[in-house]
Amino acid sequence: MTLEMVQESELLEGFDATIAHNQRIEPRDWMPEGYRKTLIRQIAQHAHSEIIGMQPEGNWITSSPSLRRKAILLAKVQDEAGHGMYLYSAAETLGVDRAELTERLLSGAQKYSSIFNYPTLTYADMGTIGWLVDGAAICNQVPLCRSSYGPYGRAMIRVCKEESFHQRQGFELLMTMMRGTEEQRAMVQESVNRWWWPSLMMFGPPDDDSPNTAQSMAWGIKRHTNDELRQRFVDMSVPQAEVLGVTLPDPDLRWNAERESHDFGAPDWSELMDVIKGNGLCNAERIANRRKAHEDGAWVREAATAFALKNAKESVA
Ligand code: 3HC
Repeated sequence: MTLEMVQESELLEGFDATIAHNQRIEPRDWMPEGYRKTLIRQIAQHAHSEIIGMQPEGNWITSSPSLRRKAILLAKVQDEAGHGMYLYSAAETLGVDRAELTERLLSGAQKYSSIFNYPTLTYADMGTIGWLVDGAAICNQVPLCRSSYGPYGRAMIRVCKEESFHQRQGFELLMTMMRGTEEQRAMVQESVNRWWWPSLMMFGPPDDDSPNTAQSMAWGIKRHTNDELRQRFVDMSVPQAEVLGVTLPDPDLRWNAERESHDFGAPDWSELMDVIKGNGLCNAERIANRRKAHEDGAWVREAATAFALKNAKESVA
């Protein structure tokens, strides 16, 4: 064994002990290359999802039915931009540059959540996205506040607080529509029918087909499996759907007294794989918009860099 190998095995022992004691890994700590890569992949994918996720709702800001609804939607979409920023910053602590991550998103080398490749067809979708999509996001992300990597876990605490507001505003919008006219109730039901299955897919493939879950759980990056969180989401959503007065579009959905959980049907996993591969309804449009926004913003980045250089020179002089 070379000296380097001895040193690495001691470092790995220290890392494993930190994880075993449920303590946090911080940016300056030694970490195995696989742990770093997995975190960069997951955090970047998460950041990209927040930024791309601004598009489906952003399209509706100017068509909001009232000033109040417009202010709420605007605030929510701005929050998503903020979440993207915290997450890109967390990824940067792992030694990767944000410009490089944006490049990986635009080239298709990195993914973003499948859910944002579905179109928003009516204003009811603003409510359903808040209730179901942000609801699924909270379910998935609250356990990530305990992720073993410090900057990720800390970023998630603030993100989750804001997501919880997003979920409630969605539920409140749907509740208002359900107390409205027959047409409004039909609009809500139609919207829920379209978003239910894609929301279940947000949790990722079933555990047996999830190549990353076992290792990510062993490292404390993920705290629950995809199927565990999906089940939690279904159990949480059923009573909320009853309060709203909408039907969830799954004929197999029923309470299982033995398991003390709901049984439910399987989403169309081939659809998820197709959307992930880039063949969803809106993949091309979302990336084209992101690319255009990035190119249109080039002058802002140049100006900010020039200003920072000027300030640095002045402080040295
Ligand atoms: N959409 C797109 N890609 C997905 C996906 C989905 N719904 N589910 C899984 N994948 C990808 C994975 O990234 C992985 O591909 P890769 O190895 O090339 O990266 C592959 O499919 C296999 O899936 P695994 O289950 O093995 O992958 P993970 O262990 O990473 O689990 C995850 C997937 C549960 C999404 C996990 O990465 C995670 O918890 N990420 C953090 C949360 C996140 O990114 N949420 C996205 C939604 S953002 C959001 O909700 C914004 C809010 O404003 C609504």
